[in-house]
Amino acid sequence: MDKKLKHIAIIMDGNGRWASKQGLPRSAGHKKGAETLQEIAKAVADMGIECMTVYAFSTENWKRDKAEVDYLMNLLRQYLKSELKEIKDRGARIKVIGERDMLAPDIIEQINNLEKETLNNDKFTFCIALSYGSRAEILSAVRRTSSLVAKGDLHLDDIDENMFSNMLYTSGIPDPDIVIRTSGEQRISNYLLWQLAYSELFFTKTLWPDFTVNELKEIINDFNSRERRYGKV
Ligand code: FPP
Repeated sequence: MDKKLKHIAIIMDGNGRWASKQGLPRSAGHKKGAETLQEIAKAVADMGIECMTVYAFSTENWKRDKAEVDYLMNLLRQYLKSELKEIKDRGARIKVIGERDMLAPDIIEQINNLEKETLNNDKFTFCIALSYGSRAEILSAVRRTSSLVAKGDLHLDDIDENMFSNMLYTSGIPDPDIVIRTSGEQRISNYLLWQLAYSELFFTKTLWPDFTVNELKEIINDFNSRERRYGKV
């Protein structure tokens, strides 16, 4: 039984509700949410955990008001420019997963540079899901696999779970051991559907801006007390 915690995935939900509760605009919730993200990312890196993936923007999120999308994109620009430096300095590799083409050209350039610069860092992988949807990810892997078969570069018998995992955006990253969703919603919302087949799921009522390192530690303790059998008895 492998209990070593290698990868924590998070759905950071509840920024809007956090802001409404204090009579603030939704943007204030996202701003506070970005601060929480920074605290949690630093803590996870310091705990010696190999990888953390966060859902920062889903393909569905493009349908929000233009003002909110613009605010989130500017927050992202800021985050990529300054806060990520602190994470990088901890020896982190930055990886972004999702439909990158839908992002603005200057953001794509920032991401490409960050990924290139940190490619050989192996202490911690900070993976950010941006314009991400898991079904789209799986379909794109199916298309790439099919095209290899059509060209005669891949035999049908060679398509196995391991090979297919390597066709996903998350290639090379271990599957999440823990998935956390904040804000009380108990859904997976098109997040890492293939990768979380055996993950332990944690749902907390805490809204993302209020999520703390202490609560994360409680979840990790709970995880360590759960027995993972992967279908065996
Ligand atoms: C969900 O809360 C959160 C998001 C859609 C965005 C997550 C973004 C952050 C935590 C900020 C950091 C991100 C970047 C881009 C640096 P919600 O708005 O759906 O909240 P609600 O369900 O209460 O309305």
